[in-house]
Amino acid sequence: MKRVAILISGGGSNMVSLARSMTGDHPARPVLVLSNRPEAGGLAKARDLGIPTRTLDHRGRPREEFDAELAQILTESGAEIAAFAGFMRILSPRFFEGYGGGMLNIHPSLLPKYPGLNTHARAIEAGDQEAGCTVHEVIPELDAGPILGQARVPIALGDSAETLAERVLPMEHQLYPEVLRRYAMGDRTPVFLG
Ligand code: GRF
Repeated sequence: MKRVAILISGGGSNMVSLARSMTGDHPARPVLVLSNRPEAGGLAKARDLGIPTRTLDHRGRPREEFDAELAQILTESGAEIAAFAGFMRILSPRFFEGYGGGMLNIHPSLLPKYPGLNTHARAIEAGDQEAGCTVHEVIPELDAGPILGQARVPIALGDSAETLAERVLPMEHQLYPEVLRRYAMGDRTPVFLG
């Protein structure tokens, strides 16, 4: 049974989907939800789900010190897998020196297109016909690790970043749990939805 730590910064809808998927004969269980923002709404949702929570406030902290402590907390939690889910921090090499488990992230674009922020607005601006989300393994280069899953949705005429996000987010909630389930079994066959 793999132990999973889920890292959030905001509402944690992906964390909820992941946590709810890890039941029954699923090969993993959530052991920790950690947020870099004490006010993150996802922390209350994690507590409602009975998952231990931690906050590690990044404000006023040198990046390297924050990253070293974050890695230490994850290592001490015993989590073999860290699932980043709306975790809005860029990790420095110090983090990777301190944590050796598996690491997954969900990004709201069809990587390698649109790494970084404002992905939906950029896809609309570029006149793309479709958008989506990607689950990938985390490596030191931002949003660049091996792709383990993607879900595609059409971009509709008149879409705003908000209406497009509303169409992509439910696909994130389908994609990420399926990728995590396979990853926890050592299966890296990519998942493609939509
Ligand atoms: C989602 O769009 C996710 O792709 C991005 O953060 C957004 C919020 O996620 N990484 P959540 O509701 O906090 O899981």
